[in-house]
Amino acid sequence: MTITCTMQSASFVVSESEIRTTIEQNQSLISDVQRGEEQYSGSLGWLDVRAQKIDELVRVANRVNQIAEVMIVIGIGGSNRGAVAALQVLKRTSSSPTTLYFAGDTLSSTCLADALAVIEHNSVVLNVIAKDFNTVEPGITFRMLRSAMQAKYGTDFEQRIIVTGSKGSGQLYELAQQHGYTYLPFPADIGGRFSILSPVGLFPLAVAGVDIQNLLKGAFAMQQKVRTIQGIGNPAIGYAILRSLIRKKGIILESLVTFEPDLQHFTRWWIQLFAETEGKTDQVLFPIGFSYSEDLHAVGQYVQQGPRILLETFLDLHYAETNCMIKPSNDVVDGFSYMDGKPFSLLNKAVYQAALEAHSKDGIPCIELNSDCSLNAESLGGLFYFFLFSAYLSARLLGVNPFDQEGVEQYKRNMYAGLGKSGYTK
Ligand code: PA5
Repeated sequence: MTITCTMQSASFVVSESEIRTTIEQNQSLISDVQRGEEQYSGSLGWLDVRAQKIDELVRVANRVNQIAEVMIVIGIGGSNRGAVAALQVLKRTSSSPTTLYFAGDTLSSTCLADALAVIEHNSVVLNVIAKDFNTVEPGITFRMLRSAMQAKYGTDFEQRIIVTGSKGSGQLYELAQQHGYTYLPFPADIGGRFSILSPVGLFPLAVAGVDIQNLLKGAFAMQQKVRTIQGIGNPAIGYAILRSLIRKKGIILESLVTFEPDLQHFTRWWIQLFAETEGKTDQVLFPIGFSYSEDLHAVGQYVQQGPRILLETFLDLHYAETNCMIKPSNDVVDGFSYMDGKPFSLLNKAVYQAALEAHSKDGIPCIELNSDCSLNAESLGGLFYFFLFSAYLSARLLGVNPFDQEGVEQYKRNMYAGLGKSGYTK
């Protein structure tokens, strides 16, 4: 898969020579990031996807497929958004006897009741995923669902629990050892939002019938490109530099716009990746995302004529084209005859161009990330890697640590205090 970063529709705010100069000024940092910086070696387990071994994941996935109609994946944030995103994109081309159900990413008791009903009515396996097993949502959901599993399956229930966790005191590894749960590693050197191409994302996807070998193949092909190509011809470098320069012109939001509804969870994955990786300084873009054409009928007005605070990044990705043609409507005069005889797939391309032109001509800088192939496991793997690497580089250009998220802890401390956890006071 090739991604091209097309900058033309942003050239009225940032010139190509500015981009080239900024790349030159940051050449040493960019090269360090391409190699993987020593200071972050404890968080760069994702940088070389060849480190990921899938034999054990496939073996456990096959066993799950034999015993479960549903696997409930319990996790939050980086521990589940990647798999949710990939599954939405690849559901049309994957088949499996086991359906995935996602839980543990909310404190809603309604959602908990739904998950309990899934256990009641189906043959179920649980996959609980947590890097640090102290996050409330997956922790308490695991407890509630575990108890329902015990009530349903009796002494055998522990064979139906698979944990993906880090090793360490009080963590899931210890629980797995003590209770005989199947254990899969959450690599110590990979943080949640960088974990889609590790057992965290790969195992549930294997259960769902996704070709995880092809996912990794596409990721590796992208890795070879973005970690070796120098200068503006490297789409990840171009994208990271361009968005940082656009931020310096006073733009404060970056909206990822997609044209396939099945990419909406991918957009949520992207939002989390960039928000948690970069959101540690005031010189950062706030990531948001919309699904066009639908959202043109929701936020299009604001984008076109509202304040000039927005960068739009157009993700030019498509499913394999269908043969659906628009037949003339001879019996009903519906006012759409100007589309007679055209392929339906032309419409999405037309709205892409129309929105890009309308927005950029009216002063909204737009970046295009164009891809040369349609969505499948391989190209999706490439796309995941492209953004993982771009987020790492982009954060380093801002001078922040891409791999921590101290800011998330504050509300957690308040909540622990409110719920009476020992050691926390209001
Ligand atoms: O990217 C991250 O590190 C976070 O989003 C975590 O994935 C999220 O907070 C969940 O953490 P944990 O898996 O430890 O429950």
